[in-house]
Amino acid sequence: MPNVLRGVDGVDLSVTVMGQKLAMPVYCSPSALQRLFHHQGERAAAAAAASAGTMFGVSSLGTVSLEELRKAYDTPQLYQFYFHKDRGLNRSMLERAKQAGIDVMMLTVDSITGGNRERDLRSGFSIPFRLTAAGMAQFILKPRWGINYVTHERLALPQLDAFVDMSGGALSIGRYFTEMLDPAMDWDDVAEMVRFWDGQFCLKGVMSVADAKRAAEIGCTGIVLSNHGGRQLDGSRSPFDQLAEIVDAVGDRIDVLMDGGVQRGTHVLKALSLGAKAVGIGRYYLFPLAAAGQAGVERALSLMREELVRDMTLMGCTSIAELTRENLRFR
Ligand SMILES: Cc1cc2nc3c(=O)[nH]c(=O)nc-3n(C[C@H](O)[C@H](O)[C@H](O)COP(=O)(O)O)c2cc1C
Repeated sequence: MPNVLRGVDGVDLSVTVMGQKLAMPVYCSPSALQRLFHHQGERAAAAAAASAGTMFGVSSLGTVSLEELRKAYDTPQLYQFYFHKDRGLNRSMLERAKQAGIDVMMLTVDSITGGNRERDLRSGFSIPFRLTAAGMAQFILKPRWGINYVTHERLALPQLDAFVDMSGGALSIGRYFTEMLDPAMDWDDVAEMVRFWDGQFCLKGVMSVADAKRAAEIGCTGIVLSNHGGRQLDGSRSPFDQLAEIVDAVGDRIDVLMDGGVQRGTHVLKALSLGAKAVGIGRYYLFPLAAAGQAGVERALSLMREELVRDMTLMGCTSIAELTRENLRFR
């Protein structure tokens, strides 16, 4: 619901989320294995996020080290963490991230087991690669990708290189999930982690009001409503549909963020109108990464920025704070 004749002369898209000042209310959500999309991988996403003045996330399954990215790009950086059975390992990884200067710790809580990715089963996708006939055909059809893959540094998981063997030996990613991650993690474990980190800490993958309240009680400074882009629990509700009641329950105590299915500036404005502080994007920047590396992600983020400015202008709003529930009506 737009308002008119408000004298919109310039739009300020900046927001502050979990203590981080962002030039726009959209950040690059962490995703695994970005050098599989394009040989520049996480470097491209981080560089593009930095030039857009926003935050990017490095996955535990990232293919560039969190330290290298921290040194290279002066923009808020979060680290996405998976909880391991080995508590000593968890603590040493938190210490490593602290040492590197990570701004926000993000614990993913919706992946205590892998989703049933049927498309991966069909395509035979696995890490380490098992080259099938269909895979060979893809290499032939996309020669540039294949040439880049073999002429650039070997794929690696620097966050986990001591534990996951990419050469086909000790531990595949599938086994990393089933053998090293702890499906028994509970609120007490996370409360201890929050205390240990002693900084900005958010849970990614919260969907219920009860869990949101619990996150606030144990000292989290943020939560991300997420169904992992629909890749985990089949038939899960959309985070957008959960937003209003969770913002009502905890929005005065912690920052509520959201991701999933965001493809347009107006998607972002709708989430912010309901009370989200910022919105994460996944495939919106990953497909451009695959298509054109850093230039692709930069173009995607600049298109998003343009859309946000245009949409805010048409809404009659000069700052994000002016977006409220008055701007929305549900059919
Ligand atoms: C290819 C791919 C890999 C992902 N890897 C991770 C990951 O390692 N850790 C994580 O917490 N979320 C991961 N995600 C989920 C994203 O962070 C985000 O929640 C999701 O993509 C948002 O939905 P969208 O793609 O519709 O924007 C991944 C998503 C995709 C598409």
